[in-house]
Amino acid sequence: MKKILIVDDEPLIRWSLSHPLSKDGYLVETAATGAEARAKIEAFKPHMVLLDIRLPDASGLKLLETFKRENPELIIIMITAFADVGSTVEAFKLGAEDYIGKPFNLDSVRQIIKQAFSKKKIAGPMEETETPVNRKINEDRLIGNSSKMIEVFKIIKRCAETNDKTVLILGESGTGKELVAQAVHFYSRRSRHPFFEINCAAIPENLLENELFGHEKGAYTDAGRRHKGIFELADGGSVFLDEIGDMPLPMQGKILKVIENKRYRRLGGDRDIAVNVRIIAATNRNLEKMVRDGAFRADLFYRLNVMTIKIPPLRERPTDIPHLARHFVETFNQEHNRNIEDLSPEALEKLLAYAWPGNVRELRNTIERAIILEDSRILSPGNLNLASETGSPKGSETASPTTPSPGRRTGESTTPDNPGPAAANGEHGEIVITLPAAGLSLDELEKAIIQLALDKHAGNQTRAARFLRLSRDTLRYRMKKFNLH
Ligand SMILES: Nc1ncnc2c1ncn2[C@@H]1O[C@H](COP(=O)(O)OP(=O)(O)OP(=O)(O)O)[C@@H](O)[C@H]1O
Ligand SMILES: [Mg+2]
Repeated sequence: MKKILIVDDEPLIRWSLSHPLSKDGYLVETAATGAEARAKIEAFKPHMVLLDIRLPDASGLKLLETFKRENPELIIIMITAFADVGSTVEAFKLGAEDYIGKPFNLDSVRQIIKQAFSKKKIAGPMEETETPVNRKINEDRLIGNSSKMIEVFKIIKRCAETNDKTVLILGESGTGKELVAQAVHFYSRRSRHPFFEINCAAIPENLLENELFGHEKGAYTDAGRRHKGIFELADGGSVFLDEIGDMPLPMQGKILKVIENKRYRRLGGDRDIAVNVRIIAATNRNLEKMVRDGAFRADLFYRLNVMTIKIPPLRERPTDIPHLARHFVETFNQEHNRNIEDLSPEALEKLLAYAWPGNVRELRNTIERAIILEDSRILSPGNLNLASETGSPKGSETASPTTPSPGRRTGESTTPDNPGPAAANGEHGEIVITLPAAGLSLDELEKAIIQLALDKHAGNQTRAARFLRLSRDTLRYRMKKFNLH
């Protein structure tokens, strides 16, 4: 029988995992702290650990490292409400098998567990020599804890590891293509070498060629001296061709040649120069359609479309909104010397109800404006000026706005969870419940919540009843019904 240890400080998470997994036939134990986890690994000897990345007494990444060192065979899957590309990549490097973002969908968790058990161990953690020296990507970290973004982080990691393969990044405007391009570079072995970026839409064609390939002295009238192009300057590193969909057709042909031959010539030059750069390209345009319309070379498209990272629009991953919004509150507090503590529940609700046609960039701008306008400590919805368009977020995952009591039920799966850091301190009692496709027993859920409320108040029924907004009699009645003591 397969044994799984669940390590998470949130009782509701432990319950919502242990319960269904036991039913699935696994032998399950739980731990709430790092110390407890350590003891249980000794005593229970699990085959797999689901490990929260933030624990009250320890860092999940540290534990991961220790557990893997002492027990290389142990399968460890990280769980987190605070995913960013850095910790995801770090976790994989330390030997994590997979990564689950909170709130999660139970069916996909089951899938991940099954896969992890069936996978033959092929390789251990990435070689130490591959650890890039330059870990810091940018002040603007790439964050997101929706399963869709975690998927993106995983693909970034895979792309980074290939080192030479061309990477194509697709996504609507404002989804973070630039940050993703930087991440691919900085998590690759090329990170010690330069990252050069050129916006193909912003530069006239003749200059673009000059910028990329450089020229020899006297190559044209103004060419006073030799000029190194980006391909040369970036030697050993990466070249990011942003807005490649806007690159003029003749230039497309030249880039294709560089990719195919791995060499090129400076303008006016008479010898080939070998290229050692990885090309990363991005566009918000529909390249396939452009190919059909004859506006983009099909051969270049196929060359670029080797490893593709598709960034989903923000409206398809609303669970990222609270996390991103708070991240930007922090960023702009510093930048504008403000001291806004959080968003009001109504403000969060407004952000969640909006469709974000301009994606993360629009969210960032909205928060910045609001921070400047706000004169209380809490961001109010009045200062969030959203374009008139509204729409409700669609997607498999849902984040609910802060509500004063548990109960907002949206989407699928059974993981009541807090979408962001403010909830971690329990201030707003945020709750997200996602329902499993297979359905769930409301009674069981109710029973568990009552049990938790009682535990939380050390069995004090009056306080537990008040906590649940029930009368004491009602609570007693339900305890009896569920056989709770
Ligand atoms: N996941 C994320 N985490 C943090 N910041 C993000 C994220 N995604 C985007 N941003 C921020 O949103 C803004 C827009 O991102 P970026 O410039 O990378 O978008 P883009 O996809 O290149 O858009 P465009 O197609 O318009 O060029 C930037 O300020 C970036 O830092
Ligand atoms: Mg861009």
